[in-house]
Amino acid sequence: MEDDNLPAEPVSFASPATAHEQAEQVSDDRTPKMRAESISVFYGPKQAIKNVSINIHDDRVTAFIGPSGCGKSTFLRCLNRMNDTIPAARVTGLIELDGHDINAPDMDVVQLRARVGMVFQKPNPFPKSIFENVAYGPRIHGLANSKNELAEIVEKSLKRAGLWDEVKDRLNESGTALSGGQQQRLCIARAIAVDPEVILMDEPCSALDPIATAKIEELIHELRGRYAIAIVTHNMQQAARVSQRTAFFHLGELVEYGKTSEIFTNPREQRTQDYITGRYG
Ligand SMILES: Nc1ncnc2c1ncn2[C@@H]1O[C@H](COP(=O)(O)OP(=O)(O)OP(=O)(O)O)[C@@H](O)[C@H]1O
Ligand SMILES: [Mg+2]
Repeated sequence: MEDDNLPAEPVSFASPATAHEQAEQVSDDRTPKMRAESISVFYGPKQAIKNVSINIHDDRVTAFIGPSGCGKSTFLRCLNRMNDTIPAARVTGLIELDGHDINAPDMDVVQLRARVGMVFQKPNPFPKSIFENVAYGPRIHGLANSKNELAEIVEKSLKRAGLWDEVKDRLNESGTALSGGQQQRLCIARAIAVDPEVILMDEPCSALDPIATAKIEELIHELRGRYAIAIVTHNMQQAARVSQRTAFFHLGELVEYGKTSEIFTNPREQRTQDYITGRYG
């Protein structure tokens, strides 16, 4: 297995150039889907994120890169308040979704996490059937008025996640019986089923083989037109292939944020240059 922390070769921009070009035409002036301003995160006395501001846009994939422990997951978790579940964590600063403060008292956190879905590093299907894994969210959020409607949502989500053909004849089998790559697509189908607006992915391919990884990357391309996507990855080639914007974190700071093509070919900061050329990881 190659060490995907270190780029083995110069990052190529050969793959879908059109997607990059189209997304890069879109101006940063438009209203962002999510706006994070001056975010700091503390675990007890230790500061893990230092005054980070980033906008996340629709129709675009934003990659978070940086060495292990620099705070990528911590920052990602701020975007749907997953840090609330960590008692030691304290978040300061402002995060808006469509202009609304996600930490405001009137924000329903269950609703927020449906609107801002999350896919984790390790596929984590429920120990239930494939059908139930996807149906659970729409059911608790009351998105279906009948059994038929629920079945339609399940089918549509599995199709969108590129898994339908592989599972349509075994919807009653356990989700945990699928392969790792299939489980990850099931988790993506589960996130999609509640009709989210933003999808957060924390190293979604790190437990997968190259073929399963390619499938997820393809899927990210397809989903980009429909959702704002933020993805944490240690794989430089992956960041270059799937994203239009890249944020480089180091020691809790956002060192550089810009067009993916520029970050990888002509970074402004020495620290970014050092990281993308594999000098530290
Ligand atoms: N639950 C926690 N309690 C205390 N400290 C934490 C917790 N989670 C993360 N940290 C610390 O916060 C810092 C940032 O961690 P984080 O997991 O966000 O980094 P990361 O960039 O995602 O790293 P990796 O690439 O290894 O996943 C690290 O120093 C880590 O030890
Ligand atoms: Mg992490």
